[in-house]
Amino acid sequence: MDSSSTGSSMNQEIDLDKLPKALFWGKLSLYNWKGFWCFPMVMKSVLAFQSHFEARSDDIILASFPKTGTTWLKAICVSILECQSKGDDHDHDGGDQTDELSKKNPHACVLTVENNVYGENISNPDDILSGLSSPRLLHTHLSYSYLPDSIKKSNCKIIYITRNPKDTLVSFWHFMVKLLGPYPFEKAYDESVKGIMHYGPHIDHVLEYWFEHLKMSEKILFLKYEELKKDPKGQVKKLSSFIGRPLNDVEVEQVLWKSSLDRLKDLEVNKTGVVSHYKIPKNIYFRLGVVGDWKNYFTEEMERNLDEITRAKLEGSGITFDA
Ligand code: A3P
Repeated sequence: MDSSSTGSSMNQEIDLDKLPKALFWGKLSLYNWKGFWCFPMVMKSVLAFQSHFEARSDDIILASFPKTGTTWLKAICVSILECQSKGDDHDHDGGDQTDELSKKNPHACVLTVENNVYGENISNPDDILSGLSSPRLLHTHLSYSYLPDSIKKSNCKIIYITRNPKDTLVSFWHFMVKLLGPYPFEKAYDESVKGIMHYGPHIDHVLEYWFEHLKMSEKILFLKYEELKKDPKGQVKKLSSFIGRPLNDVEVEQVLWKSSLDRLKDLEVNKTGVVSHYKIPKNIYFRLGVVGDWKNYFTEEMERNLDEITRAKLEGSGITFDA
C-alpha cells in the first residue's frame, strides 16, 4: 500500500469541509471526525490501519491518550518481555546496560501504529509489521472506536493507561511548547476543556476503553498512572500476569529499575536525537513524572471548572481520578 492509495481512500470517505474544524496551538487545523479531534494525516492512517491491519492472537496493543504514561508503559512492557526471554539475574545497581532500553528509546522499541506504521509517507507498513517477532508490542493513541475490527475480534490483549486530566494537560502543554513553540497555558486549558486536543476529548477517550474493559476484562487491562506511581510492584505484577508473563519479585524490581524515569532520562540514547517518523526530540518525553504537578499551573477556578466537567462526564461510569 502506498501513501497515495490512503490519500485517495480518504478523499472517497472523508469530506473535510463537512467536519467541525478547530485551530490547535493557534496554527494547526484539527477536525472532529466520528467524535474525536484528529489531524487529517491521522485520519488517513486510521483508514489504512482499519483496512489493512491483521492482528495476531498474541499481539499486545498498548493504548493511551497522549501524556498519560505511554513512555513508561512501553518501557515496562519491553522490559517484561525481555526479562522473561533472557532470564534476568542482574542486580538493579549492578549496572546492566545491555538491555534493549539502554540502546533504544522506548518509542523506537514500541511503534505507535498510526504514526510509525501507517503514517504519512511510509510505503511499507506490511513489511514493518511482518518483520516484528511475536509477541508483537504495538502502541496506539487512537480511541477504541477507531481500532480495526481485526484487533477487536482477535484474542490479542490491550493495555490502556490513563492519568488524571489536570496532570495530563500540564504535561501536554510542556510537550507541545517544546515541539511547536510558546503558547499561553490559559489558551491550552481553554481548548482542552472544550475537548480540543488531538485524539480528544480526553475523557471520552478514557470512557471508551473503560466500558470495553468492563465488558472484556480478560482482553483489556485498565491502568492508571497514579496507581503505577503509588504501587509500582503491584501494578507491574498485575500487568505481567495479564500478558501471560508472570514475574517474581526480583524480576519486578528489575523491570521497575530498567523502566524508571531517572534511569531512562540519563541514558545517552535518550539525551539527544529524534524518534518516530515525525522526528520528535527524544528527551522531551521525560520531564518530572510526578502526581499533582498541576497545582503549580492551575488557578482555583480552572481546577473547579475542569473537575466539574470531568465529574459530569464520568458520572455513573465507576472511574475516578485520585489527583
Ligand atoms: P510529566 O510531563 O508530568 O513529567 P507520555 O509518555 O504519554 O508522553 O507521557 C509523558 C509523561 O510521562 C511525562 O510526565 C513524563 O515525564 C512521564 N514519564 C516518561 N517516562 C516515564 C517513566 N519512565 N516513569 C514515569 N513517568 C514517566
